[in-house]
Amino acid sequence: MKNILLKAIAGNYAVPAFNFYNLESFRAIAAAARATGRPVIFACSESAIKYMGDDFLRFIIHNSEFLIHLDHGRSFEACKHAISLGFDSVMIDGSNLPFEENVKLTRRVVKYAHARRVFVEAELGVLCGQEDEVSAKKCGFTDPIQAKKFVELTNCDSLAIAIGTSHGAYKGTGKLHFEILKEIRRLLPKTPLVLHGASQIPQKYTKILGLKNTGGIPAIEIRRAIKLGINKVNVDSDARLAWTATMKQMMAKKTDNFDPRHYLSATTAAMTDLYKQEIKLIHGE
Ligand code: G3H
Ligand code: ZN
Repeated sequence: MKNILLKAIAGNYAVPAFNFYNLESFRAIAAAARATGRPVIFACSESAIKYMGDDFLRFIIHNSEFLIHLDHGRSFEACKHAISLGFDSVMIDGSNLPFEENVKLTRRVVKYAHARRVFVEAELGVLCGQEDEVSAKKCGFTDPIQAKKFVELTNCDSLAIAIGTSHGAYKGTGKLHFEILKEIRRLLPKTPLVLHGASQIPQKYTKILGLKNTGGIPAIEIRRAIKLGINKVNVDSDARLAWTATMKQMMAKKTDNFDPRHYLSATTAAMTDLYKQEIKLIHGE
């Protein structure tokens, strides 16, 4: 992980991180990574670990060549557990804690993880929700000076920052605060920076699902963020939308086919196509 992201800083590009939570999502990401020949990070959240179970995950991790990363680990124990399963990298997300407590928790995880050669992503600043996206104060955009101090105090390997994105399908206008990003990049020239909540929320899927008032991050904003110093871009919701919208369409058709593989192959293919497009966008092709 360290090498991949340090190369990304040197080359001024970003690596995509996609979430997997079952065999199909894992296969879809792997197929897209192979087809494009580009580096991709496989992100797995605490709830995804719970859903798949330790045995299945251990099997996947020990039999694959891909980089497996814990996404949004909320506690020391969650990170420790992921490391015990063989994860290459963990995220400790103390962004909901006061600064000092976030520092304390992150330092503890860094000490434990580094002793086992595991990479640590931390987070500072709170990602916006739809309702509070207009106010930097409410959202808690990352403060550049605090970010520098945070990295110095914790020795984390990469930093997730809040510059106007949010998780899920309701991201408002999707306008990012590039002035904050520029300043953080200036103060932390050697730290890989991470953009969470980077789904574009394609309308072709939200329409099928009947979701109203959705909003995503436009492709042009993602490219600009990468140009200004983002090195890892996290996408999850777009693939969930692609999968579920495709499944909904298939289930609406009259058919006597009751083989689950018939449906899962089509939904996995829709995810793979989406990942290929995202890889091309994020890698700048
Ligand atoms: O950690 C995962 C990503 O930040 C997901 O963001 O909801 O925009 O796909 P997303
Ligand atoms: Zn995230």
